[in-house]
Amino acid sequence: MVTGEQFDEEEEVELSLRPQMLAQYIGQTTAKDNLAIFIEAAKLRNEPLDHVLLYGPPGLGKTTMASIIANEMNVEFRTTSGPAIERAGDLAAILSSLEVGDVLFIDEIHRLPRAVEEILYPAMEDFCLDIVIGTGSTARSVRLDLPPFTLIGATTRAGLLTAPLRDRFGVLSRLEYYEIEDLTEIVERTANIFDVSINQEAALEIARRSRGTPRIANRLLKRVRDISQVKGEYEISLETTQQALEMLQVDKTGLDHIDHKLLLSILDAFQGGPVGLDTLAATIGEESQTIEDVYEPFLLQKGFIQRTPRGRIATEKTYQHFNRALPKAKE
Ligand SMILES: Nc1ncnc2c1ncn2[C@@H]1O[C@H](COP(=O)(O)OP(=O)(O)O)[C@@H](O)[C@H]1O
Ligand SMILES: [Mg+2]
Repeated sequence: MVTGEQFDEEEEVELSLRPQMLAQYIGQTTAKDNLAIFIEAAKLRNEPLDHVLLYGPPGLGKTTMASIIANEMNVEFRTTSGPAIERAGDLAAILSSLEVGDVLFIDEIHRLPRAVEEILYPAMEDFCLDIVIGTGSTARSVRLDLPPFTLIGATTRAGLLTAPLRDRFGVLSRLEYYEIEDLTEIVERTANIFDVSINQEAALEIARRSRGTPRIANRLLKRVRDISQVKGEYEISLETTQQALEMLQVDKTGLDHIDHKLLLSILDAFQGGPVGLDTLAATIGEESQTIEDVYEPFLLQKGFIQRTPRGRIATEKTYQHFNRALPKAKE
């Protein structure tokens, strides 16, 4: 169903921080520049934008980008998510309520049930719905036309999408972890929206420790602001920022206590690995999927772990990070 979801406080703040137009979307130049051209071309032709798949780790701005696309195209933004649509009929109802050019955003699209996904194929390709009326011997299939629309799918796991679904997207856009400069700008922008001043060095410090992720940067800024305000600072200082991040158990590289647990478990319980994902997950008490979606991508990119056919292994960098001597065989 189209979500009339309940917003908790965090989501509400997140909404208020969401840039509205492409020009306010910081970083992600490749994705942004490409989309800007496709949007402009679609507008010139007076056609809906091609279907877009946005993929990448959580918190990098997929939902934000989707809503920006709708704003730039000047159309309605309808949202739902893979797990929220249980039956083919639910999706059929959403599709038949769309208007010409609307953006339908399906978050976590890799979690659409298979039977629902099949409704999407003709809808995306030919803008039509095949529905079965009646049952048994009187059952017949009718084809309903849909208005041309744009489907935007978001997923943390493009690899889990079926080929027929993936092939129906005209634009595939991967969001990357943000550069420090871009994150600094995001922190400054958010501080501005919160109406607090922040020292430039302090903004940089938060950016450095945010795992390349705007959602984390904004979350850390909120906590840092709390502490700064309690201290009565007129501007968030570097010292307070460092102190707050210490309290939040975020280390100098931006690794948090779960990253620590994960890496130390590979080092200590498994002598540096290799260790399989499920074993690792059970050892530290986290879901395998959370590790794979949220924690691993960053640790892999930063070179703290490597994936081998026999499992995850710690790297030299990890031993150094925790001031550990490399085991003999690994030297
Ligand atoms: N490029 C960006 N510029 C500024 N803020 C951003 C950007 N990308 C994400 N954000 C912020 O980060 C938060 C999380 O983004 P979101 O779109 O919800 O991520 P995702 O859908 O990929 O998990 C948003 O509230 C938004 O304020
Ligand atoms: Mg999202």
